[in-house]
Amino acid sequence: MLTDPTRGELLYSGKAKQVYATEDPRRILMHYTDGATAFNGLKKAEIADKGVINCRISAFFMEKMAANGVPTAFERIVGDRDQLCQRVEIIPVEVVVRNVIAGGLAKKLGLSEGTRLAAPLVEHFYKSDSLNDPQINEETAVLLGWARPWELQAMREYALRVNEILIEFWGGLNIDLVDFKLEFGRLNLDGAGCATAVVLADEITPDGSRLWERGTGRKLDKDVFRRDLGDLSETYRELYSRIFGAALR
Ligand SMILES: Nc1ncnc2c1ncn2[C@@H]1O[C@H](COP(=O)(O)OP(=O)(O)OP(=O)(O)O)[C@@H](O)[C@H]1O
Ligand SMILES: [Mg+2]
Repeated sequence: MLTDPTRGELLYSGKAKQVYATEDPRRILMHYTDGATAFNGLKKAEIADKGVINCRISAFFMEKMAANGVPTAFERIVGDRDQLCQRVEIIPVEVVVRNVIAGGLAKKLGLSEGTRLAAPLVEHFYKSDSLNDPQINEETAVLLGWARPWELQAMREYALRVNEILIEFWGGLNIDLVDFKLEFGRLNLDGAGCATAVVLADEITPDGSRLWERGTGRKLDKDVFRRDLGDLSETYRELYSRIFGAALR
């Protein structure tokens, strides 16, 4: 039987999660809180049960990705809000995949939201809260030493595979996947860091995705909170029921 890992030192306290050390230096515990932020932390709220819901949704998707050939840092859920994960060195380049014009892309280029792109668009952002995650290209990431060319290649391939899997899954629930953000990490394979692999890390949740109900266009993601469109806790409960076929406890 698996014994639960002990929660050690708090390594990082983020906007939606806390990262704890465990007795095993190769593993961390990721604790999902109910905190929600938008506009790089300017807008904040506590959303009832968001941590439990997102912990389960992300675990569900990470398992699905692993089963479909995308390696992930996720190992298993511990308790209601914690995930045991492989500890990785996060690559400071976030990958966004877009299927439909919305959010930052619409704003930056003065386009209206809702137009479907001819093919999925992969974008890169430098992971820096103080700079508000500016958009970069792959060349910048390589020249500034944030990621190696082969890592960016792997990240792009995995992100597009994740997109295909998510489009199919959400489509089955009558929901369009508009866009989503991923983080990747370097997994140390030899203990010395000489051999590393790129794996999907962090989370796949409605906090980092845009999900629009087909037919109505109703938003089922964190835009409900960003844009004051309704009760985010209710929205996430509804998503949870649709995914798992049963209401949250
Ligand atoms: N497997 C992992 N190993 C190490 N760190 C991880 C792993 N998965 C995720 N992380 C990091 O843990 C933190 C999770 O916290 P959270 O998502 O709340 O951060 P955040 O406030 O959104 O800040 P950030 O902009 O850095 O993501 C993030 O910094 C994320 O990059
Ligand atoms: Mg985050």
